[in-house]
Amino acid sequence: MVEKLPKLYKSDAKDYQRKVVPMLKTKEAEPGEYYIDSLAVYPQYRACGIGSKLLKAAALKSHKLGISKISLIVKPENKGALKLYKKHGYSVRGKLKQAGTNFLSMVNLINPTGKSSSKKALFSKLLLF
Ligand SMILES: CC(C)(COP(=O)(O)OP(=O)(O)OC[C@H]1O[C@@H](n2cnc3c(N)ncnc32)[C@H](O)[C@@H]1OP(=O)(O)O)[C@@H](O)C(=O)NCCC(=O)NCCS
Repeated sequence: MVEKLPKLYKSDAKDYQRKVVPMLKTKEAEPGEYYIDSLAVYPQYRACGIGSKLLKAAALKSHKLGISKISLIVKPENKGALKLYKKHGYSVRGKLKQAGTNFLSMVNLINPTGKSSSKKALFSKLLLF
């Protein structure tokens, strides 16, 4: 997306109407949510846990700001990212279309310790009791 931006901003007025305006109209998040935009890790460093650490850092930052709900959007065909988000407690709340592309909107509730509400985290807590 970032790579596409310079081209997008140099677009003529017709392109602006077609590409930029629908983007501005799309509601990617609800007011009061902590929104994660464009999570990405360089290909050579993937599957090493960096994406997970970034999600945990976002949860902590959101918690510190007093925000209990985190949201993001992901393409439904991005199975790897979807799997990662679900593992971290995110669930699908709906579908949306942005600039002609379909996305799933996902949300995660952060508990008072700043940790995500994933089943794994909950299960490890139950085991402690
Ligand atoms: C999605 C992304 C940020 C994950 O970062 P990462 O550092 O590889 O993530 P982690 O190492 O913490 O976690 C790996 C987990 O991610 C999931 N995953 C991510 N990409 C995957 C892929 N291509 N195939 C299979 N699983 C994948 C798996 O659940 C995996 O868990 P596992 O090791 O238990 O199988 C990274 O793959 C990426 O930059 N992708 C391209 C950009 C992108 O699609 N971003 C999402 C935009 S919504």
